[in-house]
Amino acid sequence: MTLKISVIGIGYLGAVHAASMAELGHDVIGLDVDPARVAALQAGRAPFHEPGFEELLRRGLASGRLRFTTDYEELAHADVHFLGLGTPQQADGFGADLSHLRSAIASLAAVLPARDGAATLVVGKSTVPAGTSRSLAATIEQVAGVRLMWNPEFLREGFAVQDTLTPDRLVYGVPDPDVEDDRVALLDAVYAPLLEHRVTRLVMGYEAAELVKVSANAFLATKISFINAVAEMCEATGADVTDVSRALGMDDRIGHKFLRAGVGYGGGCLPKDLRAFLASAEEHGVGEAVGFLHEVDAVNQRRRARVVTLAAEMLGDLAGRRITVLGAAFKPDSDDVRDSPALDVAARLLEAGADVRVTDPEALAGAARRLGPERVVAGTEDALAGADLVVLLTEWREYRDLDPATTRRLVDMPRMIDGRNVLDPRQWREAGWEIRSLGRAAAPRGVPSPEATPSVLVPA
Ligand code: UDX
Repeated sequence: MTLKISVIGIGYLGAVHAASMAELGHDVIGLDVDPARVAALQAGRAPFHEPGFEELLRRGLASGRLRFTTDYEELAHADVHFLGLGTPQQADGFGADLSHLRSAIASLAAVLPARDGAATLVVGKSTVPAGTSRSLAATIEQVAGVRLMWNPEFLREGFAVQDTLTPDRLVYGVPDPDVEDDRVALLDAVYAPLLEHRVTRLVMGYEAAELVKVSANAFLATKISFINAVAEMCEATGADVTDVSRALGMDDRIGHKFLRAGVGYGGGCLPKDLRAFLASAEEHGVGEAVGFLHEVDAVNQRRRARVVTLAAEMLGDLAGRRITVLGAAFKPDSDDVRDSPALDVAARLLEAGADVRVTDPEALAGAARRLGPERVVAGTEDALAGADLVVLLTEWREYRDLDPATTRRLVDMPRMIDGRNVLDPRQWREAGWEIRSLGRAAAPRGVPSPEATPSVLVPA
């Protein structure tokens, strides 16, 4: 069944969702208040780096089933309206800023015709604090025939298309899951091709659906900070966190995923969702129950500071020293620099007086905005030239594949901090590098560390 669908807010989540819904055979219109974004998408250009998205977008445009607009009137007659608006951290607190969502709901309510018979469904996909859907429903359901559901999105950047078209599960939030509700059948019709492929769909109350999303992200952040706290123990005791993590992950109750120690998590979701969860728990009077999440955030911040301390241990005074930072995006295969650990560390090194150069295969524009264009160098080789210290902070394939001998010829002094535990320290040491990793001893027991015997460290 082909449905008329609108997607309001075509940022990362919304744009991928709109193109995916067209791929499923629906007739889709995406709306944004930003005309430049609408024009780019309408011209088949992705405003962000996401593998597979541009093909999907172009296929949708070519089929005639996908288009974009800035005008709410154009989507008034859709059967289903998805809300894909951002809920950033409030400027003056930890809570989620719901102003984009509220203003979109008001604009939509103003154009929706009252329908007799056929229902109009509004479906929230944004990450919101528990209680939001019920309060938004009170506004939007004043329009006759309109019903609200909450259907959180779990997509990861870099896998957004795959996560949307083959999700682990679909979560439907409704006002009362014990009451038969025809809005469920309408959302099932939207996702029919996924449900035919046995994707599990779970129907629950609004608040549970909202909590699934925020607690999933809080759990993932906790898992990363847990292994990063173990990494601090490893540094203190001489253990190697990659050994600990590998063995821990083999217990299938724990699992390998999100157990990679390093400079910690960043991005547009994990940091802000963890803080929003804390703020929301406080508001509901159960702040104490999730108080440990403050420590999850603190461990994450400490790992960033640790890179700067390590740099100072290796270089002494940082003032004027040339440091090359490999990576600016918050993770590989993305050009997103929101709350990027790499850029945060680069900024801290700059503050300490270092002469910092940052490079990244995709995120140079974001790096230039944060640090200034003079700090950004395109191309790994050029960025490495003359470095006193190299700091790897985003594990792009090309950095993981760097050859220690070749890289040594490019830098001034062969010193490396591996902030993501992706290089083999033994191989790099054998090629004459002084290498430090987060969560690993300076050198294996019994092997003299280059710091202990500075004479082994010679200019490249
Ligand atoms: C996350 C959630 O995974 C996704 O389900 C949700 O919808 C949005 O937030 P995303 O922000 O795209 O997705 O990134 P993710 O792949 O989860 O990585 C987040 C951060 O954690 C990155 O900075 C990454 O480098 C870091 N990370 C991840 C680690 O430091 N160690 C790990 O083991 C895994």
